[in-house]
Amino acid sequence: MYKINRNFAKFPGSYLFSTIAKKVSEYQEGHPDAKIIRLGIGDVTRPLPPTVIKAMHEAVDEMGNEATFKGYAPDLGYGFLREAIVAWDFKRLGCDISTDEVFVSDGAKSDSGSIQELFAADNRIAVTDPVYPVYIDSNVIAGRCGEYDEKKEGWTDVTYMPVTAENGFVPEFPKEHCDIIYLCLPNNPTGTTLTKQQLQDFVDYARREGSVIIYDAAYEAYISQEGICHSIYECEGARECAIEIRSFSKNAGFTGTRLGYTVIPKDIICDGMRLRDMWARRHGCKFNGAPYIIQKAGAAVYTPQGQSEVKELIDYYMGNAAIIRDGLKNAGFEVYGGVNAPYIWMKTPNGMTSWGFFDYLLAEANVVGTPGSGFGPSGEGYFRLTAFGTKENSEAALERIAAL
Ligand code: MLT
Repeated sequence: MYKINRNFAKFPGSYLFSTIAKKVSEYQEGHPDAKIIRLGIGDVTRPLPPTVIKAMHEAVDEMGNEATFKGYAPDLGYGFLREAIVAWDFKRLGCDISTDEVFVSDGAKSDSGSIQELFAADNRIAVTDPVYPVYIDSNVIAGRCGEYDEKKEGWTDVTYMPVTAENGFVPEFPKEHCDIIYLCLPNNPTGTTLTKQQLQDFVDYARREGSVIIYDAAYEAYISQEGICHSIYECEGARECAIEIRSFSKNAGFTGTRLGYTVIPKDIICDGMRLRDMWARRHGCKFNGAPYIIQKAGAAVYTPQGQSEVKELIDYYMGNAAIIRDGLKNAGFEVYGGVNAPYIWMKTPNGMTSWGFFDYLLAEANVVGTPGSGFGPSGEGYFRLTAFGTKENSEAALERIAAL
């Protein structure tokens, strides 16, 4: 008999957002008249910017013409997109990244789930807690996290770096040696971030320890304050120890269109191997490139018009963030985030558990959010609302919550 990957049997439940979707659809079935407002998963609601749509139409026409038709895309992505990425996302910040260090993909979720394939099974991972569940889940599948401990509500072989109101959402360095450190900044789900110096401290720590940082910058476009890095390569020495993952989903609305990229500098070398070359090898064998039409759409984001349309989208969502944050504060809740990120992180009232508050809000206000404990043990007692809904729904949800 063949053998399955038993690591799948270790998961205590389904993927967080699938569990929420199931609960909500069961509730809706039982309450067909309920007008549910979904502020759970961070999925965008504004249509793609006009400049992006125009580029997609033109690319579709090219695909229908024998003279301009494209087959397989280059493994790393088309040069026109990688050049635009380097110019706009890195050179403008003064970061030294070259086009052959950029790998275009079908989105940051695939990359953040797959990047662990570069590493041996016996590496120890560290994550900020709470954090985007993909980092741990993908390492569980690879057999790197030990067992799920029901009492601790966490994995035995993972180092959790709590980020809570008590420590101002600044993680402490792990007490034991960790090989792979995941940082998501601005953080999903807390919506908080680190200063440039605090991030530099992590880079220095990784270099001292011989660790690698997986830096997920999916929400960098939402940074509104000074003194916060948009890329980890703004920190000295990051080229030697950090991989950065970026997304077109949250800034330009590509959640359904799928486009992202990963940067692996050539200076990251371990055991005589360049991680960049290993990822190129892996990309070559497992990936045939993001579609030409989508890469053209992505390149349109990096035009002056595209950038101004993206800024409009971000302003729209951050307007929602302000509505939710201020509304919750006025209603007496303890609230964080929503300034440099499209997520609002609130304390559950009266000591309710995260899932208890989820059920209460769904039943009493017909509003869906995400229970903080779904993002890690330190998320217990917190709850996340997304600013990616419509303005009308953000306002209506706040009215309903305030009226409770
Ligand atoms: C979230 O809601 O945390 C994210 O949108 C999920 C994702 O990006 O995959």
